Amino acid sequence: MKIQIINGPNLNLLGVREPGIYGSESFEAFLPQLQAKYPDVQIDYYQSNIEGELINKMQEVGFKYDGIVLNAGAYTHTSIALHDCIRSLKSPVIEVHISNVHQREEFRHKSMISAACKGVICGFGLDSYRLAIEALLAGK
Ligand code: DQA
Repeated sequence: MKIQIINGPNLNLLGVREPGIYGSESFEAFLPQLQAKYPDVQIDYYQSNIEGELINKMQEVGFKYDGIVLNAGAYTHTSIALHDCIRSLKSPVIEVHISNVHQREEFRHKSMISAACKGVICGFGLDSYRLAIEALLAGK
């Protein structure tokens, strides 16, 4: 089984960026721990700050991987292009957020991508990514 994790803008700064909201662990430190929990699953990781690059990566893997775990960062709230991309793919996409966006500013309450995704997990810190993988495994 192959799963692609995709992180959007500013998520390269995890561990440094607003640690009160996003925690103090970098994704690079977290990823090997996650991969070690699922030795039989190939978990690949990609991050970009650029909307079109996220779309290129989704199109590249979205017809051959068993699922995509997508934290689109702030593009979640703005990107019709990501919505259209997700709808075009064969692989199921799980939307994840580290923080509970519904407890935060009003502009974070609206997601442009949720309706195109298989499901949404938010508010569990970095564990949101593990929960998304569990959801993909359960859906197999
Ligand atoms: C986020 C929530 C978004 O609103 C924000 O723009 C992010 C991170 C999260 O993981 O909690 O960049 O997706």
